[in-house]
Amino acid sequence: MANTLIQGATVVTAQETRAADVLIEGERIKEVRAGIPARAGDKVIDAKGMYVIPGGIDAHTHLDMPFGGTTSADDFESGTRAAAFGGTTSIVDFAIQARGTRMRDALDTWWKKAERKAAIDYGLHMIITDLGASGLEDMDDMVREGVASFKLFMAYPNVLMVDDTTIFKALSQTAKNGALVCMHAENGSIIDVIVARALAEGKTAPIYHALTRPPRAEAEAVHRAIAMAEIAGVPVYIVHLSSEDALKEVREARDRGVPAFAETCPQYLLLSQDELERPNFEGAKYVFTPPLRPKEHQPKLWEGLKNDHLQVVSTDHCPFCFKDQKILGKDDFTKIPNGGPGIENRLQLIHHHGVNLGKITLNRFVELTSTTPARIFGMYPKKGEIAPGSDADLVIWDANAPYTISVKTHHMKVDYSMFEGYEVLGNARMVLSRGEVIVDGQKFLGASGRGNYIKRAARGGAWK
Ligand code: URP
Ligand code: ZN
Ligand code: ZN
Repeated sequence: MANTLIQGATVVTAQETRAADVLIEGERIKEVRAGIPARAGDKVIDAKGMYVIPGGIDAHTHLDMPFGGTTSADDFESGTRAAAFGGTTSIVDFAIQARGTRMRDALDTWWKKAERKAAIDYGLHMIITDLGASGLEDMDDMVREGVASFKLFMAYPNVLMVDDTTIFKALSQTAKNGALVCMHAENGSIIDVIVARALAEGKTAPIYHALTRPPRAEAEAVHRAIAMAEIAGVPVYIVHLSSEDALKEVREARDRGVPAFAETCPQYLLLSQDELERPNFEGAKYVFTPPLRPKEHQPKLWEGLKNDHLQVVSTDHCPFCFKDQKILGKDDFTKIPNGGPGIENRLQLIHHHGVNLGKITLNRFVELTSTTPARIFGMYPKKGEIAPGSDADLVIWDANAPYTISVKTHHMKVDYSMFEGYEVLGNARMVLSRGEVIVDGQKFLGASGRGNYIKRAARGGAWK
């Protein structure tokens, strides 16, 4: 492959912003400095007036995921293509261990879902539903395969929820194998009682999804998850944190020096519980867990991102079409498939509402959306960095490009956008994955199946 030289850019990393050229040799970055001369045969990309940032890393996606009798609308082909358009060059998706089966079966199933489809690189977390007799050995086996993180659910009794014994055993095993436990922290037992009461009272509309999952149920579970991790002497990562109450638990733990980490998502930063009251059942478009919160929570989450009480912004992309999937819960909000689309719009939204509106710096934007997920999930410095030796996963970012988010133009295979009509300033102009230009403006130049499985290292950033 010919060398590629990105000239005249402003290179932005988590650490610094500087004028520099970036020389790419094959799939890797060779050199980063001002004044690199182009040599004969080099492909030169003029990036004057543009930022070059490390490709986005979305550490929380659900492509081709079975849920509630249906399957998420994007598979690895459409989902990774949409991700690429938005400047995301790596994802970490979730394989799900079916109860009573081995984790390797789930890993094989998810590898099959991804191979020949993924257009960008992908890693996998493993969702543990059952430790059984061989679960702890299975965890070690997964770590050897590069599945360096596990998700456990404290919600969805009888489906995905595991008890505290399982959680504590899994956490304790990570002391030996260096993996990271990711917790879906909501007290599912309490929520189920509140849900049953609501249904008995005839409360079936989408808004009751939010009203039956109070922030205190999230905070309680976050508190318990962190306490269990502390007793086991290991780090823990809280996924899709949605509320001020839950954030306070993470902040207090971190203030005590406990290695607790957490992510939030654009929907919790920008949308509120009011969305679930949209007429004509449209509130169902915003049904996911944890639910959207009253808007007073939003500034607290932004402060959390700024002050490092929250470390990552991911999407929890889990799209279900309104017309034929969300509708399954027309008469009962508990039957609405839980999840929303977002894989394509994360960088646009966080750049505009975070950087442009002065809530976070440009470097923090890069840190939250790329560098820290790479570190925490064992991909750094191969991913999430612009330095010699790193993969040439790069985004040429036009900070002044106006863009209107809409279902009419997005590439996700879902019939609505949670951010319909949102106007942002800043978008990916060109996207490179391991040195290959896969998006150029509105053109997709990548190919399904070119994405590689990322074998992630244990004892990543959360352990340091
Ligand atoms: O509602 C959601 N978040 N769906 C995806 C599964 C999960 O809990 O992350
Ligand atoms: Zn979850
Ligand atoms: Zn999720």
